[in-house]
Amino acid sequence: MKDNFSPLDLLALRADFPILSETVRGKPLVFLDSAASAQKPRAVIEAMRDAMEHQYANIHRGLHWMSERTTEAYENARDLTAILIGAPSRDEIVFTRNSTEAINLVAHSYGRGMMHRGQAVLISEMEHHANIVPWQMLRDAHGIELLVCPITDDGDLDYVAYERLLASHRVGLVAITHMSNVLGTYTNGARLAAIAHAHGAKILLDGSQAVVHRAVDVAALDADFYVFTGHKLYGPTGIGVLWARAELLDAMPPFMGGGDMIGSVSFERSTWARIPHKFEAGTPAILEAIGLAAAIRYVKAIGFDEIGAHEQALVDHALARLSDIEGLTIIGRAQDRGGVVSFTMRGAHAHDVATLLDRAGIAVRAGHHCAEPLMRRLGIDSTARASFALYTTKEEIDFLADTLLRVREFFA
Ligand code: ALA
Repeated sequence: MKDNFSPLDLLALRADFPILSETVRGKPLVFLDSAASAQKPRAVIEAMRDAMEHQYANIHRGLHWMSERTTEAYENARDLTAILIGAPSRDEIVFTRNSTEAINLVAHSYGRGMMHRGQAVLISEMEHHANIVPWQMLRDAHGIELLVCPITDDGDLDYVAYERLLASHRVGLVAITHMSNVLGTYTNGARLAAIAHAHGAKILLDGSQAVVHRAVDVAALDADFYVFTGHKLYGPTGIGVLWARAELLDAMPPFMGGGDMIGSVSFERSTWARIPHKFEAGTPAILEAIGLAAAIRYVKAIGFDEIGAHEQALVDHALARLSDIEGLTIIGRAQDRGGVVSFTMRGAHAHDVATLLDRAGIAVRAGHHCAEPLMRRLGIDSTARASFALYTTKEEIDFLADTLLRVREFFA
């Protein structure tokens, strides 16, 4: 059933997600924590179960039918992933464990393998720890400078400072979020890439949040590296994606050594398999890739235009309702933003707000959201964060706002 609020048939879509009919201590589950990890549609659950029941063996190794079929399913997930993000070639898709591993892979193989002492990596103040710590490790091990681009008070990237930093330093690599997991801010990836390239730097975009809400086209962005994770895209945990230009992957040394990533091995020396296999050592996340493929099919069948429009309506509604609550401050007011709304409440710690919301059956995340430096920049130690998915309803946001009014009374 559709209404004027959303282009999606929410009733039908929600029925695809078995967990959404669960109750929490007798109350209907209101799940507003999808930015941490999204719930799974039946299509994903069944694809993984079906594989285990009917079509499972190790891949790339067997000469038998079952292995061939499983290899096909795994490699089909690579095809679908390439199509999802507009990758020019399926060989440019490397499966990792998550976004964190994908960034560590780049920091290790590109950073240590191809960057030179004295070059800089440029990140921003609104990065997740996963896009900070690997670069600090690279800095400490490899003599790389780590630069931090400021954000504006609205929570947007400071593009003037960004360009100035690129002009005044030897930046080899920019690594910036495509959508902040705290502020909801979308960065202008194409603009960031154009400026980075004009100054001779490569660019990695962390699409962990962005890829869930909007169609991403890495070729149109003109990025060099793009990373995201399966579990936020309605897929399983344990599978992430690194996309990189083929010429970069070809030139980069491997990240981990082991089976499947080799051309040949002797005790004297080993050679590497061609990309992407060079970067997929060991038995990969076969079932998880099959689950990711089902998730990609699922979201593509719904359509990113529709998902984007629905989530934009949710964000606008949430901002309007939450802004009306006295004593509640929305953290992050960038113009271009996705389905994440962080807030603080005067006189109440975010953990206490989340605990009281939980009593009403509402799941939100509270804390520093793996972005401690951003919290410091904002002069706070934590926020509560409501985050939305394609299955989130306007009524759930109204319930959040009404419950927050009661929470405020409690603390007053
Ligand atoms: N990075 C995830 C979040 O923002 C876990 O909640």
